[in-house]
Amino acid sequence: MSRQKADALVIFGVTGDLAHRKIFPSLYAMEQRGALQVPIVGIARQDMTLDDLISRARNGIERFGDGDIDEVVFKRFADRLKYVLGDYADIESFKKLRVALGDAKHPLHYLAVPPSIFGMVTANLAAGGCADGASVVVEKPFGRDLESSMQLNADLHAVFPEDRVYRIDHYLGKEALLNLTYFRFGNRFLEPIWNHEHVRSVQITMAEDFGVEGRGAFYDEAGAIRDVVQNHMLQMIALLAMDPPASPDDESLRDAKVRVLRSMRPLAPEDVVRGRYRGYLKEAGVHPDSRTETYAAVRFHIDSWRWAGVPFLVRVGKEMPVTATEVLVDLRRPPQALFDDSAHCDRNYFRFQFKPFTTISIGARAKKPGDAMVGEQIEMIALHQEPDEMSAYERLIEDAMLGQAGLFARVDEVESAWRIIDPVLKVNTHLYDYQPSTWGPLEARQLAVGHTAWHDPLSPVKIAHTVEP
Ligand code: BG6
Repeated sequence: MSRQKADALVIFGVTGDLAHRKIFPSLYAMEQRGALQVPIVGIARQDMTLDDLISRARNGIERFGDGDIDEVVFKRFADRLKYVLGDYADIESFKKLRVALGDAKHPLHYLAVPPSIFGMVTANLAAGGCADGASVVVEKPFGRDLESSMQLNADLHAVFPEDRVYRIDHYLGKEALLNLTYFRFGNRFLEPIWNHEHVRSVQITMAEDFGVEGRGAFYDEAGAIRDVVQNHMLQMIALLAMDPPASPDDESLRDAKVRVLRSMRPLAPEDVVRGRYRGYLKEAGVHPDSRTETYAAVRFHIDSWRWAGVPFLVRVGKEMPVTATEVLVDLRRPPQALFDDSAHCDRNYFRFQFKPFTTISIGARAKKPGDAMVGEQIEMIALHQEPDEMSAYERLIEDAMLGQAGLFARVDEVESAWRIIDPVLKVNTHLYDYQPSTWGPLEARQLAVGHTAWHDPLSPVKIAHTVEP
């Protein structure tokens, strides 16, 4: 079967946090745009009425959505909702679900439940007659290492072929990441220099100025590498480093990303510096003997003709000085030092900021006014900011409902990414403490040696001042 437009949406775990914070606000926004056309069936283990579910949806939309609720739109949205009280281990619940689905032939099942029960839910979807013609949406984490990820994929594939599986990595739905792909291939001037001849290093920083925010128990099982490097960061590298896709269709894009991931070298312990902010062990839900990292600096290598010798340096961390996600593509110096100040000159670079603002900047030298041929560093900034930007979840849920898979992680992407990360998960690399509100352990400097120093994203205040949004 090829991909289908969904004619019903089923939300497993409809009383949970993900539905409350992300799914309801996204569906409501779709309703507001006239993009929601199908019935929605929520299923969970909590004994409650449809009215309770509607109130919970309203609360999620009010707290996490954009702007005030329009009662006419909300009524339309609420009229789509049904609730099924279900035990995920009991086939009878799935039979009830089938009845609630009525005539729907192509339901989309959104598994907003822990990955540990994906296998049970999909098996019961099949047993209860809810899997025929249906598709499934799952969320990261896709396992905790290569082996468990392969098991998870096998469980999904036992019921749903790959072309009916949508794996959400919400970074792929972000406007700024779509813009990165567009900017790379919508312009002529980038591609000729986008390789080891001209690029000295690529850095990605994903800094968050907060800690684990009440998610201690979940986070402690994961750590920074599993939480954001294996997925969000490797997806960003794939988009930055891929060859031009053969065509704009979903599979060509994913093929291009997989080729990059396959040419990445599995990490060695010397490519990783792990850190943990002081105070982490006191967070609720964190094990007192925890060895989990809240910070990771990682040096990736892409063994390809295009990228040989160019380090891809990634830094992610909680309790950093700012919240910002930024890519810096640092170019080599001009081959000839024509001007006296050339030796001291800063850098030519491209800086893509994804958070807090979507900006694309080019760092360059320009002559200072005066007699001397002396330059100064300038940055040309383009700010892209739409007040009504679609959220990543809204975009992804809509795409999954339309049967468009390009922004979802394919099985070979996920497994290739684990293959790169897996070796360092198996060794207990040193864990360095760092002070909250700093850029993490100084030991991370050694990863950047010989290439370029770590570049700290501008603080949001400075950025706001620079770009005047
Ligand atoms: C999630 C991680 O996937 O991404 C969180 O589990 C992290 O730990 C979050 O904070 C960051 O997402 P965003 O969209 O706020 O950059």
